Amino acid sequence: MKKISLTGIKPTGDLHIGNYFGAIKPALELANEYDARYFIADYHGLNTMKDPKELSSTIRHVAAGWLASGLDPEKVIFYRQSSIPEVFELTIMLMAFTSKGLMNRAHAYKDAAGKNREKGDDTDSGINMGLFTYPVLMAADIIIFDSDIVPVGKDQEQHVEMAQDIAQSVNANYGTQVLKVPQAQIQENVAVVPGLDGRKMSKSYGNVIPLFAPEKTLRKTIMRITTNSQTVDEPKDPDTSQIYQLYKLFADCGEQSALAARYRAGGMGWGEAKEELFRVINRELSPVRERYDAIMADIPSLDKILQQGAQKARPIAAATVKRFRKAAGID
Ligand code: ADP
Ligand code: TRP
Repeated sequence: MKKISLTGIKPTGDLHIGNYFGAIKPALELANEYDARYFIADYHGLNTMKDPKELSSTIRHVAAGWLASGLDPEKVIFYRQSSIPEVFELTIMLMAFTSKGLMNRAHAYKDAAGKNREKGDDTDSGINMGLFTYPVLMAADIIIFDSDIVPVGKDQEQHVEMAQDIAQSVNANYGTQVLKVPQAQIQENVAVVPGLDGRKMSKSYGNVIPLFAPEKTLRKTIMRITTNSQTVDEPKDPDTSQIYQLYKLFADCGEQSALAARYRAGGMGWGEAKEELFRVINRELSPVRERYDAIMADIPSLDKILQQGAQKARPIAAATVKRFRKAAGID
């Protein structure tokens, strides 16, 4: 039997090429080797997104983004967290095995509480129970599908470790392996994709290249990449240029060395380098964008794909809950 890879995608904003290279592509590669279960963590999104229209459209945007990038719903079980009520039953059961102190140590909560204290506000000001108990819901997401590996970015490692702790407490209490203990698969070999200003591309820095922007917007965005004041004639160092770092993600080896040589020789201005970058990005992204536009033009079909995924997922989830209830004496 193949091992199980599971990851959740929070629907909290427009997808950008950092998400594409840092999360989507590596997870889709793992789907060739593992039984993959990928889902839209919409109840996690609810913690911060209170505008119903925005949440609803972001859920579809992110789902369509994964499908347009190549997720095959015949191969990967692809669903919305909110379609699996068993996850929420398991969350409540796991709460009984999760110490409050563990939640106090979770990064997301600690950061929010720390910021409040810095401002002189009450420690828990503006912090909802969804944020505080976030790691328990995430543990349930993972544990319910007997996941072996959880591909995530470094920032999520602590949450997966908490899922391990919680599953181990359950198993230790009953003296048998009721729940599978998952492993994080940290994507360390994935380069950090730089943003327009050279910092890590992130929606919180406002420096992103959106994955599905229309061609014109894509070009305009690339033209906004910050550069230094070197003149056209001056030789340039490809390794310190974010234009070149981005170029490497989209260009083949021959193109990469050709552009590096032109940088070093001088005579090429930043404008021209950006045009070259636009060409290779648009070459890779235009078919993805076309698929995305087609999916978004037919939301009922998209919703159906997600529902079919949920239908496949629910019996697996129900079996885990049943096993746990039996072990717990709630049978
Ligand atoms: P953002 O920083 O824009 O809020 P998220 O935290 O929602 O992005 O990231 C979702 C996924 O995309 C995570 O797995 C994260 O590791 C990956 N990711 C985000 N930005 C980048 C980047 N600049 N380079 C590589 N991976 C990234
Ligand atoms: N917390 C993850 C993030 O912010 C999203 C997520 C929710 C997740 N449930 C998960 C990731 C389960 C992996 C497994 O990116």
